[in-house]
Amino acid sequence: MTPFALPDLPAPAGLYAERRARVAAALGPDGIALVPTAPERPRNRDSDHPYRHDSYFFYLTGFSEPNAWLAIAGDGGTTLFCQPKDAEREIWDGYRLGPDAAPAALGVDAAHSVAELDAKLPRLLENRDAVWFPFATHAGLEARVAGWLGAVRARTRAGALCPEAQHDLCGVLDEMRLFKDGHELGLMRRAAQISAQAHVRAMQASARWLRDGRPVREYHLDAELLHEFRLHGAEGPAYTSIVAAGANACVLHYRAGATPVLPDELVLIDAGCEYAGYAGDITRTFPAGGRFAGPQRDLYQLVLASQEAAIAATRAGQRFNDPHDATVRVLTQGLLDLGILDAATAGGLDDAIAQRAYAPFYMHRTGHWLGLDVHDCGSYVEPSEARQAVARTDPATGQPVVSRPSRILRPGMVLTVEPGLYVRPGPAVPEAFWNLGIRIEDDAVVTEGDAELTTRGVPVRIEEIEALMAE
Ligand code: GLY
Ligand code: MN
Ligand code: MN
Repeated sequence: MTPFALPDLPAPAGLYAERRARVAAALGPDGIALVPTAPERPRNRDSDHPYRHDSYFFYLTGFSEPNAWLAIAGDGGTTLFCQPKDAEREIWDGYRLGPDAAPAALGVDAAHSVAELDAKLPRLLENRDAVWFPFATHAGLEARVAGWLGAVRARTRAGALCPEAQHDLCGVLDEMRLFKDGHELGLMRRAAQISAQAHVRAMQASARWLRDGRPVREYHLDAELLHEFRLHGAEGPAYTSIVAAGANACVLHYRAGATPVLPDELVLIDAGCEYAGYAGDITRTFPAGGRFAGPQRDLYQLVLASQEAAIAATRAGQRFNDPHDATVRVLTQGLLDLGILDAATAGGLDDAIAQRAYAPFYMHRTGHWLGLDVHDCGSYVEPSEARQAVARTDPATGQPVVSRPSRILRPGMVLTVEPGLYVRPGPAVPEAFWNLGIRIEDDAVVTEGDAELTTRGVPVRIEEIEALMAE
């Protein structure tokens, strides 16, 4: 059963069963794993937020109905609990797969109504040595597991064994999800392509409307993004879109508000769609009227140069931190060159980096894993080197920090590359740069060679952006 209309990108047969088998192998023969999907979340009175399945659950089932649980036994047996067929509820809420159809549709061995969860779960846990579930991700899950284990213990006099260990399933699933398979890469390329088209649409709308003398506000551009996402079958935004005109771009988590978009100001848009469950994540910063002015151009070129350095460092064998370090080097040198950092105070390049003098203007990291979640799961520490902790003092805060060797990039990992600069007014800052906020964000698939940038359907070079906006 495919939850979304994807005629040209169907999941290969057996994809989810193969993922479940890999989980089973990680549990050991006597373990068992439990994975609930996400709850429905009330918005107000009897209205819910739009439903979004749990990413772990979806990764293992492709099933997007609420009120469902998956159990995977270490010997490979899989059991689904799902909403029962209900003619009355299906009139109001829509089609339900139901437990009778679930084994054939989803490839699980058995399926029951979720109403039977409390009755059946203790028997599934009985005589297992360990129960695995995602820790600290579902409110109340630990207490429910404890309740089921209590029911198992009540039967120990009858000879049942109760699992003695509880393990976090997140580590197993995070490691699997960190490496995208061919099906996932296909969906992520589509999410990236639609997201890029949406940025092009918003840029062109901005320039066209301003040329026509029409007032433009941030929410107009937000509407253009949403239109393009839905037009191409995306579920919607993968996260709350940022559409920030002028000084609003210096607020990192700004949303699309009602601020007028002025022709001589920059607009920063950070937006990506969710397509078949997978996120795109793109930021572009462009002149609302279509032409970069002097200081905007200088700062933009600096961020772009830092992104190019980061992309060059995004390849198999490099570390996750390498693109960030490359970014910081280019940005810091540029801030010194432009006089935004004062060399007399900050010192030379290496001193300025060591003292994190760039931090008032660049306060976030250069990327994150991307996948089903926009800030996707996966350890940022290289697992084989996790014990190599180094303690030091952060020069900027004076606080002790412990760091471990960062993750070695491998083919199939997907991450963003998103340097930026945010210049707030300040007495030591040249006024020409005040209130400029610039970020350039692309999505990158790690390969053996150059990173595959999936989001360049929307350009980054100044002359290409200006040409696009002149159309
Ligand atoms: N939009 C979230 C991020 O770029 O990380
Ligand atoms: Mn991002
Ligand atoms: Mn983003």
